[in-house]
Amino acid sequence: MKIIIQNKKETDLSCDALILPLLEGEGTTSYKDINRSLNNIPDKIISAGEFTGKPNEVCLVHTEGMIKPDRVLLIGLGKRNEVTVEKLRQAGGKAASYLSGLKIKDIALSTKTISSLKLTPVAFVEGALLANYSFRKYKSEENHKEIKKITVLTNEKLDKQIKWTEAAVNAAHFARDLVNSPSNDMTPSTLVKAARSLKNVSVKVIEKSEAERLGMGAYLSVAKGSNEPPKFIVITYKGKNTTPVALVGKAITFDSGGISIKPSEGMEKMKYDMAGSAAVLGVLKAASEMKMPAHIIGILPAAENLPSGTASKPGDVVKTISGKTIEIISTDAEGRLAVADAIEYAKRFKPSAIIDIATLTGACSIAFGNETVAMMGNDEALMEKMKKASEETYERVWPMPLFDEYKDYIKSDIADLKNAGGRSGGLITAGYFLKEFAGDTPWIHLDIAGTAWTDKDRPYIPKGATGIGVRLLLEFFRTA
Ligand code: BES
Ligand code: MN
Ligand code: ZN
Repeated sequence: MKIIIQNKKETDLSCDALILPLLEGEGTTSYKDINRSLNNIPDKIISAGEFTGKPNEVCLVHTEGMIKPDRVLLIGLGKRNEVTVEKLRQAGGKAASYLSGLKIKDIALSTKTISSLKLTPVAFVEGALLANYSFRKYKSEENHKEIKKITVLTNEKLDKQIKWTEAAVNAAHFARDLVNSPSNDMTPSTLVKAARSLKNVSVKVIEKSEAERLGMGAYLSVAKGSNEPPKFIVITYKGKNTTPVALVGKAITFDSGGISIKPSEGMEKMKYDMAGSAAVLGVLKAASEMKMPAHIIGILPAAENLPSGTASKPGDVVKTISGKTIEIISTDAEGRLAVADAIEYAKRFKPSAIIDIATLTGACSIAFGNETVAMMGNDEALMEKMKKASEETYERVWPMPLFDEYKDYIKSDIADLKNAGGRSGGLITAGYFLKEFAGDTPWIHLDIAGTAWTDKDRPYIPKGATGIGVRLLLEFFRTA
């Protein structure tokens, strides 16, 4: 969607639809003139009770040539003192998906109501951009529902913020595309291509033989059952900062569970087990496009987890780069095996912090549903920063404890650790397992198993891959 910022009178702009955000209980106060030009139709609709201004309520009015825009869309923001940045984002999402559903292409946003709230219209635009997404790569029928253009009517200087938002949303869409892609077209090698498609970054791929030499036994054990070659991908973006931050993204392009095979019902969704890596790629894309000062090393231990005659078996013991041994209790707890070696590898760059993002546990959605990213870590200040970024972006994180007692849950009788600690505390024991590899390096673990995919349309997130983590981590780096 093209974004144009213009200081022009609402009634003078030709477009398919002009969006008028309205507050509950305040009628058309911000739009007396437009209401008059429209023969008081908006007021009539409101007094008839057909539109009240409740959050995300919509009402479309044809203007019949009374003003230049062909239609006016009233959208509710709720009560004045209850409007938040997120409510604006959601209203923007709702307005855009409603209009794109009608195949409307060219829209405009009046910012008067939003300015009267001392809030930024950029949030509304962000919601509209995020909602304007569909994954149609595998549909033979052409059906372009996307809105092509939005004109933001304002005299505010918004160019910089809009440019930033556009880059962040494009990156989230890039991540959504990768995650929505089926695993036959999204293999570890495809992730390499995605990494190589980024500009102004350097990409190094550690192939299986080199990974063996390096001793990445835990990571390699995950790939053993598949014919798809594993690819350990290292992507560097260097802004002006000297010390890097390592971003590790879980990159299991399909998780069947391996020999500890998953039930077939719903297994098709396990193509989204590389959502962490998609988030990392999205962050690197926007960071390099926006020439952010951050120095980021993205690490994607990519593999496919399948059962076969060569696959890892429960009871097998593997060794990580650090030399720590792991007893594989479940081949379905593969994410932590791959991520453990990636965290160890990340330490070679002496990063100021390691952040891993992973669809790590089903227990995460049991605890948090689909609303919240589980956060664990060993550095309170770092986690506080992540929390702030999450409040800004509404990609919300919530902390879980890593008390020492959890160590017992992953003690093995024959190796240093075991990869599964049973059902109780499953979200935390997965985090604790990774903590053993992070050691003294400041580290955060984000479990996005519950938030990377949505089965229902949300105001600005259509069904499917959500792109979670991209806006969160970009905000984290922006304010770092
Ligand atoms: N990729 C899954 C976690 C997952 C489940 C993500 C559902 C998204 C939706 C992970 O590899 C896994 O299978 N974890 C196991 C761990 C268990 C065997 C200790 C799980 O959560 O059941
Ligand atoms: Mn698994
Ligand atoms: Zn998995």
